[in-house]
Amino acid sequence: MSHKAIIIRANKMGFCFGVMKAVRLCENILQNPNNVNKKKYILGMLVHNDFVVQDFQKKGFVTIEESEISSLKKGDIVVIRAHGITKEIQQKLEEKEVELYDATCIFVSQIKWKILWAMEQGYDILFLGDKEHPEVKGITSYAENIQVFAELEELKRAKIQKDRKYFLSTQTTLHQKKFLEMKKYLEEFYPNVYIFNKICGATQERQRATEILAKEVEIVFVLGGRKSSNTKKLYEISKSINPNTYLLESEEDLEEACLQGKSKIGLTAGASTPEEIIRNIENKIRGILDA
Ligand code: F3S
Repeated sequence: MSHKAIIIRANKMGFCFGVMKAVRLCENILQNPNNVNKKKYILGMLVHNDFVVQDFQKKGFVTIEESEISSLKKGDIVVIRAHGITKEIQQKLEEKEVELYDATCIFVSQIKWKILWAMEQGYDILFLGDKEHPEVKGITSYAENIQVFAELEELKRAKIQKDRKYFLSTQTTLHQKKFLEMKKYLEEFYPNVYIFNKICGATQERQRATEILAKEVEIVFVLGGRKSSNTKKLYEISKSINPNTYLLESEEDLEEACLQGKSKIGLTAGASTPEEIIRNIENKIRGILDA
């Protein structure tokens, strides 16, 4: 298939600040000569992208799960993933006396600190996000009596008392529109809820850029890991605007047929998708089309 086509990249896409920092931290550990003979582990997925995870495995890190912490030895190097960990896991790691490196994104840590502050001030805690996401599990493990909601319908069933004060925070990758819907509801019915919007700027920028892109092109490829929450959201946003939206983890997922007759192709990528993956996919598209 060969016809004149152009490829347009979203204005903002790919690695965010937090992922970049996590990747650099691991690279620095590998480069430090003092670490050559130490065992090096990453707890869970460093970032939600298989390519990044496998790349560090090839370079010498072993990925371990929380259930495997008991096998760690004193002095082993352990990197905490960008989404953070629960209070319980943090305590277990400290007891093991491992050499801990924290790649938790600063924006995730800030939410945790703010919730701890709010509890001290006597607030009850509400949280908007996905209970099953590691970031949310980590943050919420530090709070007592916390209520977590993923959707407006769930929020409407919340036990919120008019005579108590509440502090509400959000998952960093929450869908902006979903948040605004829930915020509007709370402001209307519960003025006693203080809203601390912590949707990450990088996430918002990528969501907005994807919206603009999806309107502009005939087909959109959202590049990133299927486990990546922010990649999935970019896919949902794009798909709702442009039905010709496809999620690709690597160039192998690209099917020629979907490019048939398309001359304006859009690319966007989640915050944990490395430039190398983006380039490989872009090159494959260019190879198929005359772009
Ligand atoms: Fe951090 Fe935002 Fe990235 S929370 S990991 S900078 S998407």
